[in-house]
Amino acid sequence: MANTTLDKWIFPKGFAWGAATAAYQIEGGWNIDGKGPSVWDTFTHKGGDRVFKNQTGDVACNSYALWEKDLKCIKQLGLTHYRFSLSWARLLPDGTTSFINQKGVDYYNKVINDLRSNHVEPMVTLYHLDLPQALEDRGGWRSEKIVDSFDKYAKFCFRTFGDRVKLWLTINEPYIVSRLGYEDGILPPEVKEQGVALYQVAHNMIKAHARVWHSYDTLFRKEQSGLVSIVLYSGWAEPFNPNSVDDKAASERYLEFMLGWFANPVFLDGDYPAVMKSRIQNLSKSQGLSSSRLPEFTEDEKRMIKGTADFFALNYYTTRKVSYEESTCFGPSFLGDQATKESTDSSWPVMEPFWLAVVPWGIRKLLKYIKDKYNAPAIYITENGFGQKDPSPLEDVQRWSYYRQTLTEVYKAISEDHVDVQGYFAWSLLDNFEWTFGYDVRFGLFHVDYENPDLPRTSYKSAKEYAKVIKNNGLIGPDQFGVSA
Ligand code: BGC
Repeated sequence: MANTTLDKWIFPKGFAWGAATAAYQIEGGWNIDGKGPSVWDTFTHKGGDRVFKNQTGDVACNSYALWEKDLKCIKQLGLTHYRFSLSWARLLPDGTTSFINQKGVDYYNKVINDLRSNHVEPMVTLYHLDLPQALEDRGGWRSEKIVDSFDKYAKFCFRTFGDRVKLWLTINEPYIVSRLGYEDGILPPEVKEQGVALYQVAHNMIKAHARVWHSYDTLFRKEQSGLVSIVLYSGWAEPFNPNSVDDKAASERYLEFMLGWFANPVFLDGDYPAVMKSRIQNLSKSQGLSSSRLPEFTEDEKRMIKGTADFFALNYYTTRKVSYEESTCFGPSFLGDQATKESTDSSWPVMEPFWLAVVPWGIRKLLKYIKDKYNAPAIYITENGFGQKDPSPLEDVQRWSYYRQTLTEVYKAISEDHVDVQGYFAWSLLDNFEWTFGYDVRFGLFHVDYENPDLPRTSYKSAKEYAKVIKNNGLIGPDQFGVSA
């Protein structure tokens, strides 16, 4: 149990203190040593201002060549855990096990072995946005065949690394991939079939995740005794007008469409939230369609999907005020299906990117919501952080203050709301390629100097302060405490 005295907020014994990264955002080495292209290589190489100043992840932090520098940062922080992702196309260049790229295996073996010999537990994501292009060419996440490909890839990873990796994450943020890649069309593969494609993609992702969990459970768990989950993105939602019944229902709906879409099938009953099913069914009918745009799971599939997570992996960044609003467009769309309008409060400070309104208390409410709704699972906060615009100051006092406030809220969730939070991962270890924002938005605990060919890493103030938190297993003294929430 967490314990509290006047100036000490000590986290439970064994709490996991981590930082996270993802392959495409840090590795570089996009075409060396046999790596195949991913959809992000294709996307960034198209130019056309898809990304800030047409930047790419071709080199990024060059962690493929400079892993030792990253390891130094990890040791400097004193992390107990490090979360990173495997590049599917580095291991299996055409996405299938027909050819295994040994150089890719060697690279990740080194990373994993170095972490373990430094007493840092690896937490490994199998897929973090960078689908092999060869699989995209065969339909990608829109094709049900992906379930099989993902399962084969995952089994290969469990077989190859599972003797040393005990915490696995299948898919990072299926919400973001489906919403931004297939509804808004601003991330690869730039599909904009509104109100349709994102549901198909999410459907396949849920099935792929569930299949992989079962593969682990039946073939590897006994010998490897690890845990497997899926990373879910969610903000918190407050009703715009707390006295409005419609706004209260809208904020609940907002969470169902963001978190429940994936968490209900996996953690509850194998199926989508009732409100999604009924709204999309009714709207599809009024749009002249003979069946719902939301695909259905068969009874067998529901049984297969239900209960396929060994812990809850949550990425939290921000909060919204939500009001009820029916869409004024006639065609199908995700927003029309949701009938919500989101906004932020002018008192909430905004960091980078522009969508990141800082609301530390949102995480506490969300954690309590997850505890109450999803049967009190063990939770790892697998990402949380704040970006700064380039050139970002090393004395990132304001950013550290937000980290501190957020950790305070996590502490309260544990000690006062009795939420079983087992770990916290800062996003990110290093400044890196922030997707469409390129290198303009910096999320790192360590600054990366991209002008210098050696890509030196330098600690921000946040890194130094976070290292103290880790050392003390909590917040101690006025320097790190003193923030009322
Ligand atoms: C993603 C990261 C990303 C971060 C900040 C998360 O949605 O998993 O890859 O860099 O948010 O935008």
